[in-house]
Amino acid sequence: MRHFLNLADAGPDAIAAMLADALDRKTARNGWPKGKPDADAPLSGHVLAMVFEKNSTRTRVSFDMAIRQLGGSSIVMDAGLMQLGRGESIADTARVLSGYVDAIMIRTDDHAKVEEMAHFASVPVINGLTDLSHPCQIMADLLTVIDAGKALPGLKVAWLGDGNNVLYSIVEAAGLMHFEVVAACPQGFQPDESVLAKGKGRARCVASPHEAVEGADVIVTDTWISMGQAHAETKLDAMMPYQVTEALMASAKNDAVFLHCLPAHRGEEVTAEVIDGPQSLIWAEAENRLHAQKSVLRWCFGQIG
Ligand code: CP
Ligand code: NVA
Repeated sequence: MRHFLNLADAGPDAIAAMLADALDRKTARNGWPKGKPDADAPLSGHVLAMVFEKNSTRTRVSFDMAIRQLGGSSIVMDAGLMQLGRGESIADTARVLSGYVDAIMIRTDDHAKVEEMAHFASVPVINGLTDLSHPCQIMADLLTVIDAGKALPGLKVAWLGDGNNVLYSIVEAAGLMHFEVVAACPQGFQPDESVLAKGKGRARCVASPHEAVEGADVIVTDTWISMGQAHAETKLDAMMPYQVTEALMASAKNDAVFLHCLPAHRGEEVTAEVIDGPQSLIWAEAENRLHAQKSVLRWCFGQIG
């Protein structure tokens, strides 16, 4: 059974194969109506159930469209309206859903819940974001970087701001795909050593945003307050020196690109000039969630790698 809980579950060869497949499929259906299935409809008849314990726009719609374009269909559920929301266990939910659908995607808080779902499900389980990680987002980010003409090995990726779940998956990707991550995070919001270790020597944390961005190929940031976290002015104050500005972008390579998983807060983690400027690839990045996740779904069903 193939579960996609973190990038390491697939490994570097399968990730490379998924990215190549995603690019091929994206190119092959260029200009088609979005609801028209791919010519080979490789997951015809398959149903994906999605369980959301947190808000979502991109993950919800991109997975729904991904399974449709692969020839299948989806059922989308808010956990609060399921018996899960009244205390039914993840284990029982996993066993019941496995009898109805062919794959489960879940977005939740505690990463242990996704692991429990995978343990008790008899169908593939996909992590649609936990407090620990966001592997589907980073599949889309890698696809965006490659589609912009940059080969992954040897790239310098600069992360600015909070040492959060999105950074975890970037660090993991660095270790697997052999690029460098330099994260500039304020004191108290740096990733744990155990997270940096996922980068297998290719990830480090610095205090200076300029040091992180110097000569970088890709600049990435994310919201300073993630879902489930309390709004704290003290955190926003600590983060302010790590805002991605045009001045900071000027320290990166001339052809550096800017990524943000969205939703964004202009004037907080990034200025409007940068996120809406010529180096920003955020709209391609958001669209690539769809293309990347189609390949993740195909990998889960043994069609790739
Ligand atoms: N980037 C991302 O996961 O967006 P949503 O929260 O809208 O799904
Ligand atoms: N770090 C953010 C990502 C949102 C897609 C969060 O967890 O809320």
